Amino acid sequence: MTSKSSRDDGRLKIAIQKSGRLSEKSFALLERAGISLQKSKDQLLCRAHNFPLDIFLVRDDDIPAFLVNDVCQLGIMGQNSLLESQQLDPDTFGGLQQVMPLGFGRCRLSIAVPNDMEYTGPDSLNGRTIATSYRGLLAKYLAEYKVDANIVTMEGAVEVAPRTHLADAICDLVSTGNTLISNGLSEQETILKSQAVIIKNNVMRSDIDSLSEKILARIKAVLSAENSRYIMLNCPTEALDDIKAILPGSQSPTVLPLQGRDDMVAVHAVCDEAVFWTTMEDLKARGASSILVVPIEKMLD
Ligand code: PRP
Ligand code: ZN
Repeated sequence: MTSKSSRDDGRLKIAIQKSGRLSEKSFALLERAGISLQKSKDQLLCRAHNFPLDIFLVRDDDIPAFLVNDVCQLGIMGQNSLLESQQLDPDTFGGLQQVMPLGFGRCRLSIAVPNDMEYTGPDSLNGRTIATSYRGLLAKYLAEYKVDANIVTMEGAVEVAPRTHLADAICDLVSTGNTLISNGLSEQETILKSQAVIIKNNVMRSDIDSLSEKILARIKAVLSAENSRYIMLNCPTEALDDIKAILPGSQSPTVLPLQGRDDMVAVHAVCDEAVFWTTMEDLKARGASSILVVPIEKMLD
């Protein structure tokens, strides 16, 4: 008797971070894309009950391997971890594509040194020892700048390495910068800027690929709705060109007549950039009135 393997059950599999900085936001994004998820007890697998989709909850660093082995077809992870995997093992992971930056989980990979260490540039690292969890990316940076330094690989708690004399400097992720400050370290070089991205395997079965395209289109729609506002205002007909010119990021607004007013029109537009108070004040100064700015819940181009 043969049973259908879980790989061939016709469901799309997405790997996301089990716990950590990206986990909650990855879940929230899928939920905003209309995926309703049921967490299983062991929390390794979550089934969506309104879409042929399963979510695998794994360690960030393991996500690339889940994709290349076709256990999952999409992943949400930090660019930093993806690029590190690709740097260490280009043959295995080089084919993974970044399909969409997600605008959260922003951080940078930086070199930091103790506050009392003299630092004048990458040359100051010559002959020094640097602790990091990003050996691949650090080695690439050091080679680019022709710095001859030793790398000590650590899985975590990299920031304590200088205090314990394990290393002279560190190369680690920085988000708020609080970890560096509380460990007496100062950030000197940023070697990479990172955020969460969706990654995709370069080969996919066609039925799964069409599910994947559908989810990606929904996520794109969620992201563009988040960054967009619907703006409504009234203005004198003669001020229309002026008003249109300063509507932020709007292509072709709808212009509607106002009943009983020959001299005034209503303008409705989707703005794909932030609408600041100063923009509203500028609109008002050019004759706009009754200005309304409302969030957009969903938007499908
Ligand atoms: C990361 C990084 C720093 C800290 C930086 O560690 O390794 O320790 O966050 O963040 P901050 O600039 O906002 O202080 P994380 O908390 O992800 O844990 P880990 O090092 O154990 O993986
Ligand atoms: Zn850390």
